[in-house]
Amino acid sequence: MHKPLVAGNWKMYCTVPEGLRLLEELEPGLQPHAGAVDLVVLPPAVMLWEFAKALKGKPIALGAQNACWADEGAYTGEISPRMLAGWCSYLLIGHSERRQIFGETDEQVNLKLRASLRHGLRPIVAVGETLAENEQKRTREVVQRQLEKALDGSEPGWAATLSIAYEPVWAIGTGRAATPEYANEVMGMIRSLLRDAFNSGGETIRILYGGSVIGSNAMSLMVQPEIDGALVGGASLRPAEFVAIVQAAAQAARERPA
Ligand code: PGA
Repeated sequence: MHKPLVAGNWKMYCTVPEGLRLLEELEPGLQPHAGAVDLVVLPPAVMLWEFAKALKGKPIALGAQNACWADEGAYTGEISPRMLAGWCSYLLIGHSERRQIFGETDEQVNLKLRASLRHGLRPIVAVGETLAENEQKRTREVVQRQLEKALDGSEPGWAATLSIAYEPVWAIGTGRAATPEYANEVMGMIRSLLRDAFNSGGETIRILYGGSVIGSNAMSLMVQPEIDGALVGGASLRPAEFVAIVQAAAQAARERPA
């Protein structure tokens, strides 16, 4: 059984002072669950350094929502994993908004994953099908392609810190979460691909569900055998809602058969 991982993806919301206030509001609700759940906040890049200072010594980890694949260079507007190394723990890679709005490719996802591992950041690689792909019954094909390309040239050591987030694009920000059974089924397929790529190492990789997770549906998702946590967008900006999700993850972990 994996210790669940719950990550809050703040996307492009909040100014720095607003973000710091929100973090302060979140902390007391999250701290009691830190033993049972690995907690991560992914604020906008401009807040990361302040957040690192605010979270020092606390059981809430920090992650970036995106970074470049290169260590440095003429990449205006980008930040590099090398700049995050040592004080930021996680890196979200290949979120569907990056893929769709900013044209991020499977090849870039692979390069970013490599850069993340090179600098000791724990990658969370997001995959998921669009509504059209879902309707065309291409979920398996799309998710398999995204995952295999992300993991191209993988080495056994990658499994140690990698997580995967399955986020059906049609469920993101729509209030229409996947059913727990559907999510579990796709994530079972992801698990078998991870076994193919990493053998027994594939068992240790956490697979998160993302897409309209809120307090009231979190428990039904978290009790699914293949779901090891959640990547939360909108609800991660609402402290009571986010804490309810974390609480559900903690409870589901306690109740899961060993
Ligand atoms: P949502 O977003 O929880 O607002 O649906 C999830 C995500 O984009 O990671």
